[in-house]
Amino acid sequence: MRLKLAAGNWKMNGTGGDLHVLTELAQRHTHPACELLICPPATLLHRAAQAVEGAEIAVGGQDCHPQGNGAYTGDISAQMLIDAGASAVILGHSERRQYHAEADETVCAKALAAQAAGLTVIVCVGESLAQREAAETLQVIAGQIAGSVPDLASGNALVIAYEPIWAIGTGLVPDTGQIAEVHDFMRTRLQDRFGAEIGGQIRLLYGGSVKATNAEEIFAVPNVDGALVGGASLTAADFSPIVRALE
Ligand code: G3P
Repeated sequence: MRLKLAAGNWKMNGTGGDLHVLTELAQRHTHPACELLICPPATLLHRAAQAVEGAEIAVGGQDCHPQGNGAYTGDISAQMLIDAGASAVILGHSERRQYHAEADETVCAKALAAQAAGLTVIVCVGESLAQREAAETLQVIAGQIAGSVPDLASGNALVIAYEPIWAIGTGLVPDTGQIAEVHDFMRTRLQDRFGAEIGGQIRLLYGGSVKATNAEEIFAVPNVDGALVGGASLTAADFSPIVRALE
């Protein structure tokens, strides 16, 4: 049984005044029946970890560097994320692939470093609208999984988030048949590569305009083990019903 995961990606949003969202979530979900993870900007990680201390909410980073330390101005290592209180990290988000030219090999190197440091890794994959319209979706996903996901000894510390780029922040959501097609495909690829057991342990999240109003329908799709939520994770009022839909 894969434990469901409700993950919030705050992206470049949030300052100290927003930490109350975490305490509110902790109050609303004292014994969540799923895993709850919030990934605030790096500047808030330490305070976020303190804010959820004792609660069943984990915090994570949004990126890390493949090296442990060194002359990499502005970068943050996996060890630093752990030191700040993180237990997970999002890697290869389409915004990083687009704005920071992150290739699959870079994402894979970061994932290896994060795994070695003991972080749960959430690798993001997803096609652009042009790729979907050209019927290249499955080919793109296969390539990203093959290139971005490192070899694994266990599937428990790896999560893959399917985020169609055209659905991120747009209010557009693939229909449940399209989500099912990609998630089933990812499960098969992972089981082909890692074997039935490890491939079956890896959690598959859907991300892209998840809201209270569509969460239940999305979570009913087989092989959807939770969500990676952007905009609707910024307030407890928006995120909480999504968590409830998963429980
Ligand atoms: O990582 C989450 C994401 O890219 C989806 O964002 O705002 O469409 O939920 P949003």
